[in-house]
Formats: sequence, structure tokens, C-alpha cells
Amino acid sequence: MSSRSSKPVDGGNLPVPQHIAIIMDGNGRWARRRFMPRVAGHRKGVEAVRAVVSRCAERGVGYLTLFAFSSENWRRPPEEVSFLMQLFMRALEEEVVRLHENSIRLRVIGDLSRFEPKLIDMIRSAEALTAGNTGLNLTVAANYGGRWDILQATERMLKADPARREGFVESDLTPHLAMAYAPEPDLFIRTGGEQRISNFLLWQLAYTELYFTDKLWPEFNGSAVDEAIASFQQRERRFGRTSEQVQAATAAALGAVGRHA
Ligand code: IPE
Ligand code: IPE
Ligand code: MG
Repeated sequence: MSSRSSKPVDGGNLPVPQHIAIIMDGNGRWARRRFMPRVAGHRKGVEAVRAVVSRCAERGVGYLTLFAFSSENWRRPPEEVSFLMQLFMRALEEEVVRLHENSIRLRVIGDLSRFEPKLIDMIRSAEALTAGNTGLNLTVAANYGGRWDILQATERMLKADPARREGFVESDLTPHLAMAYAPEPDLFIRTGGEQRISNFLLWQLAYTELYFTDKLWPEFNGSAVDEAIASFQQRERRFGRTSEQVQAATAAALGAVGRHA
């Protein structure tokens, strides 16, 4: 962890989350409230993505994961699905240079096989261009589903090591999950008022702090990120232990830092 992200801020106890995962929801309602077509909300949502990416980079967040299209979103009207695909391509085309200039590394997770070859090529070349970057790790989940991820990881594990058929443990499986390169999310944010996971990172969210806001995605911005981080920092993460144990461990860690200062 960088020294920047390990320093508590805003009076909270916890450091800035190392990994934030977001369900960007509410684009359609944002547009409808303005008597605009749903897709106008998706277009506006790209601006929110830009603002959130840059605030997360400024705050020293290491990993930001955005749910852009779920494996269930194919059920939407075909015009909306194809608009979303076009928008994804345009956003990639327009943003990738800026991401690269800001030392951001882009990865896309999900079952890409259902996408047009042109989109797959664009994704692969954006990933290749930014592969050496050491700033924020930005992951876009596209045609992603948490259940798909667990199944594909199991399949890959068994292919790599057929002996695992006899039995396996968590650490055999986790290197094959789509986000094996990242720590599990510390903070999950869902905009748009719904309080559900919608088949996002099911395995990885096991101990993530959840934050729900009624703000619609196109209204979400840098200060909304700060609010979510501040809420996170007030929490106590116990991972099954008691509050007393957690406080004793924190005091011991602070004491160790004090002695080395
Ligand atoms: C989220 O906004 C964007 C995607 C799922 C691609 P929605 O399109 O789900 O917006 P609402 O929930 O209908 O308002
Ligand atoms: C979840 O949003 C998926 C994305 C934001 C990409 P949805 O709006 O599709 O979720 P549900 O179907 O209402 O749960
Ligand atoms: Mg929605």
C-alpha cells in the first residue's frame, strides 16, 4: 500500500480503500426524468465515469472496477443494447489516450466472446497500450456475471490441473477468477437507489463494505466519491473477529508505527 493511501483522512479510522467496485445504475431514470430517451442517460453517464476515475486516481485508490454491462443486460431492447455497444467503442476510442497519459492501466473483464470482433480488438489494443502503466488500475466489467466468473474459474482450474477433480480449496480457485490481479474490493458502491448486487463480483464481495446511494449515476461525481470514501472510513471491518480484537490490533499497529517514526 502506498503511504498516501494508508493515511487516515476526514477523521475516519480506516485508510482510503485500495479497491472500489461500482454498479453504475440509474442512467435510464436520469434521462426519463428529463423527458429524454434512456440512451441520453447512458451518454451522460460517460461524463460521470471520467469524473470518478480522476477523483479515485487523485485519492490514491489503487483499483477501480466499474460494472458497465451485465450478462443479463442482453435482455434489454436490441436498440438499447446496440447503443451501449457503440457508446463503449466510442468511449474507448476517445478516452484511451487520456487514460494512458494519466498512467492508468485499463483491463476489461467478462465474457467478451459475444462482442463484435472490432470491439474485442479495440479492447485488446487498449489493454496492451496501457499494460505498463503503474497508476490507477481501472477495470471495466462488460458482459460480466459473478456466477459466470466462478464457473469459468472452475473450468480453467480443472483444465490446468485435472487432479483438482478430487477436491480443491479456495486458494486453488482464486488465481483463475477474472480479477485475480486485484485485491478484493474494500468498498462497493451502487448508485440509483436499488439495494442489490445484480450478479456483480459475487465471490470477491464476500467481505466488502457496501454503500448504496439514491444519486443516479449521471449525477455521481468527485465529491460523491469523497462522501462514499468518508462513509467507508468510519466503519469497523471485523472479518469475523470481535470489536475488541480489532481495536487491540489497530492500537498495536499504531504503536509499532509510533516506535518506528
Ligand atoms: C445503468 O443504468 C447502466 C446499464 C445497466 C448499462 P440503467 O440503464 O440500468 O438505468 P435505470 O436503472 O434504468 O435507471
Ligand atoms: C446492473 O444494473 C448492471 C450494470 C450497472 C451494468 P441493472 O440496472 O441492469 O440491474 P438490475 O437488473 O436492475 O438489477
Ligand atoms: Mg438499472
